Amino acid sequence: MIHDQANYERDAADVHEPLLSEKGTAIVDVRESSPLPDELTREELTLPNPEEPAVARHYTRLSQMNWAIDSGPYPLGSCTMKYNPKFTEDVAADPNAAVHPDRSERSVQGTLELQYRLQEFLAEIGGMDAVTLQPPAGAAGELTGILIARAYHAHHGNDRSEVVIPASAHGTNFATAAMAGYDVVELPSGDDGRVDVGALEAAVGDDTAALMLTNPNTVGLFERDITEIAEIVHDAGGLLYYDGANLNALLGRGRPGDMGFDVMHYNVHKTFATPHGGGGPGAGPVGVVEELAPYLPTPRVRDTNGEKGYETFEPEHTIGKVHGFQGNWLVLIKAYAYIARLGDEGLADAAAKAVLNANYLAEQIDLDVPYGPFHHEFAATAGDRDAADVAKRMLDFGVHPPDDEVAGDGARGDVDRADGDRGAVVARRPRGSVQPRVRRQRRGARDRAEPHRRGPDRPGGRRAEPPALVAGARRGVSRRSAPRPITRRRRRGRLLAVASRPVADGRVAS
Ligand SMILES: Cc1ncc(COP(=O)(O)O)c(C=O)c1O
Repeated sequence: MIHDQANYERDAADVHEPLLSEKGTAIVDVRESSPLPDELTREELTLPNPEEPAVARHYTRLSQMNWAIDSGPYPLGSCTMKYNPKFTEDVAADPNAAVHPDRSERSVQGTLELQYRLQEFLAEIGGMDAVTLQPPAGAAGELTGILIARAYHAHHGNDRSEVVIPASAHGTNFATAAMAGYDVVELPSGDDGRVDVGALEAAVGDDTAALMLTNPNTVGLFERDITEIAEIVHDAGGLLYYDGANLNALLGRGRPGDMGFDVMHYNVHKTFATPHGGGGPGAGPVGVVEELAPYLPTPRVRDTNGEKGYETFEPEHTIGKVHGFQGNWLVLIKAYAYIARLGDEGLADAAAKAVLNANYLAEQIDLDVPYGPFHHEFAATAGDRDAADVAKRMLDFGVHPPDDEVAGDGARGDVDRADGDRGAVVARRPRGSVQPRVRRQRRGARDRAEPHRRGPDRPGGRRAEPPALVAGARRGVSRRSAPRPITRRRRRGRLLAVASRPVADGRVAS
């Protein structure tokens, strides 16, 4: 099915979902209702005026042209979305949640307290000392974190020019380092899919500002050498950045701060069940160790311990603002609600289920799955089959395929066994059943091979192009001068305590 805004093809017929205004309009007299001067107002307005059933059907049809977390699992790989529980919508819809950020602090103490508590929850979960809620996405969190690292080095008169990133990392890591003005040193993976410690030793040196690492990494493998990795980077005077996209696998069980990470972002849509930013506001809070707290974006929220209640303040060497106020609060409040409702046990349980699901699915799937056992996700190759065909076939059967190649992901703890089994069955259908079809597209005849079937229930309209793997400049690993040891800091060892009218021919005259 090819969508062109509100057009799609079904059973060889073009189907068009008109705009609401094409379904019927009414002219409304607005002369009386405006307090504005006459020269600034109109006398009448033409507004869409369909009957309620037509409105309901219109939006239902539009929603069916898309794939959504409420339609089925959304296993994209590291970017896998968690189901968004509806109770968090209730929390965010509470009129008290949407206070105007310019109101006096005295009058929004409840909101500030929640923001403060969320900062604390996230710090506790990540083993960090301080958190900003401001960045509006995981990628924005990465940029914030690397800008913080840059400010830290600059403040210590220690300008460094490179960020080291494993080849398996998400494209946003490379883009982030390049946007922050760093040269990217790409680190090849070892034979076991993990960081090659020897290559890391060769890659870091006096110019290393930071190593960006995802753990478990993007093929679902825990970086077992993380303590040694942290030591190597710290001894060279660099900082260790944690890409929190895969934190779901560690929730309540392991903390980046305890592993030696200095700065991290949290993808709240992957870990704490909020909607993703795409198409709407998102959030990617950043946590740091104490030494980096003075560089966090402004403002942050603190508890004055009874003196003035909760207040905002500017960190001493702040990098400035990366978004307005405390970020996208109505998304963040959903993360708060999720964490508060699950508590310690629930969070640890979510991580366990995600890991179990991924390993279960990796066993079921009849594709070549290298490495393992896994954490929350795994990578599979389609062998001599075209990965795009396998992915499209999965779509045909109502199973959203993982991105990049095929079958990249296990689960986020919210996929039931039937969904997992279905995904595995669909992915392993023999190649022979992936039938090329010739079809006519709306705008002129264009042949395209396409597996199996099409129809309004087939999720995802457009042919997915494989995403560009890496953004930003990269260059090879180079040998560095001997690492310069520096004294590293203490680590806390706390336990987690957080608790149209129906269309026949596709067109309706208005
Ligand atoms: C490993 C990894 N890092 C960073 C990101 C970027 O996060 P966001 O989509 O919230 O910008 C993603 C994907 O979403 C990811 O999978």
